[in-house]
Amino acid sequence: MQVFQKKRVDDVVAQSTPLHRTMKTFDLTMLGIGAIIGTGIFVLTGKGALTAGPALSLSFLLAAICCGFAGLCYAEFASMVPVSGSAYTYAYIAFGEIIAFMIGWDLVLEYALQAATVSAGWSGYFVNLLDGFGIHIPTQLTAAYGTTPGVTTYFNLPGFLIVLLITWILAMGINQTKRTNDAMVLIKLAVIILFIVCVVRFVKPSNWLPFSPYGWYSFKAGSTTPMGIIPAASIVFFSFIGFDAVSSSAEETINPNKTLPRGILISLGISTVLYIIMTLIMTGVMKYPQFAQFINAPVAGVILKTGMNWLAVIVNIGALLGMTTVMLVQLYGQSRICYSMSRDGLLPAFFGEVHHKYRTPFKGTWFFGILTAIAGGFININVLFELVNIGTLSAFIIVSAGIIWMRVKHPEAHRGFRAPGVPFTPLISIVFCFVLIAGLNWETWVRFVVWFAIGMAVYFLYAAPHSKLSLSERIAKQTPSNSEPSR
Ligand code: ALA
Repeated sequence: MQVFQKKRVDDVVAQSTPLHRTMKTFDLTMLGIGAIIGTGIFVLTGKGALTAGPALSLSFLLAAICCGFAGLCYAEFASMVPVSGSAYTYAYIAFGEIIAFMIGWDLVLEYALQAATVSAGWSGYFVNLLDGFGIHIPTQLTAAYGTTPGVTTYFNLPGFLIVLLITWILAMGINQTKRTNDAMVLIKLAVIILFIVCVVRFVKPSNWLPFSPYGWYSFKAGSTTPMGIIPAASIVFFSFIGFDAVSSSAEETINPNKTLPRGILISLGISTVLYIIMTLIMTGVMKYPQFAQFINAPVAGVILKTGMNWLAVIVNIGALLGMTTVMLVQLYGQSRICYSMSRDGLLPAFFGEVHHKYRTPFKGTWFFGILTAIAGGFININVLFELVNIGTLSAFIIVSAGIIWMRVKHPEAHRGFRAPGVPFTPLISIVFCFVLIAGLNWETWVRFVVWFAIGMAVYFLYAAPHSKLSLSERIAKQTPSNSEPSR
């Protein structure tokens, strides 16, 4: 059994695609911002402020630097191999099938847990908004069992329904998806800019002192939870996840060599600037320990402090749209990863079947959409967002290492975009990823290893025996004069 067999760049690029090509730089930027700005800024900034104090803006900067260097590597790969599958496809080319499968497996977990987690946050904001209009959903149906101590909840109905609605939009086709996403992202950006403009005058510089109460990395007496700028960066890293989903749309993009890198880097740049301004304002308006009272809605807490209640309603709607687009892009990314893995024989053909009318991986989209909706409805997964972070950081490490490998082994491959400063750019990305992994809890490392072990079992029991690359190599070996092996 060959597990390190690789695909060739030319073969991958030559693979014909039945998907529609409609996306341009603007759409990709919207797609990126749609995936990036959401739960991280609207929910996790509370936990981040308690972990790092006002230095939270530095944590965001740290996470942004990590993503910026990784983003350059993604952009180069995306321009070299502009096909569906993102890190999964890149790993198939650089390191071989087994690593590719593990990254694909890792991404499937990342996207599903992320969308399910975001649906829980979405539900909270939605219930608040309805409450404001005097409409009450029974508490039991507002969250999964055990989500809030002392409150009896069984099922997250709004979260379940929003995931199904998004799945329907995705299954109907990219045109509907693109228009829906573009409109929601523009509204989300307008709301964030409105927040910044309205709230900045309430900043009191004295609230920024002490700026870094826990330093870079420390522990409170008797606690095993790490505190400081690095652990907060490991938390808010979640806020930047999403730009990698842009590269998943390569087969639906016009002129992907140029538009993919632009889409990735522009969306990352815009989000970073907005995050740093927003966190400086938030910690400048409210003293960092007070975020403990608004842990699930820190932005709303800051607005409450200013007394502008009208703004709270608008920002609430912005947060809802923000989280909707995150789920939209993540579920989109997930269906495309599964499509690529299925096309390679590593997942059953069911996931790769393209609908004759909508030209989307219809069945796979519905399969994972329903699973995600159920997960978000029934499971209290808020504690698992760190698993999303470690999964993404691992993918970043593989992609960054892959860039160095490809420059050495395949300098001839056509690249529409070349990451500057190689090998330092990917090396810095890898170092930052390890620093952020170190800032996570040890429980997260253990959960990740368990998921990894299950993936290994699936690879050897299903994926390796069904691999199309293996099959074509076997055929090529039997008829050596007619065919050239893939690798
Ligand atoms: N970056 C995405 C968010 O913050 C995952 O919701």
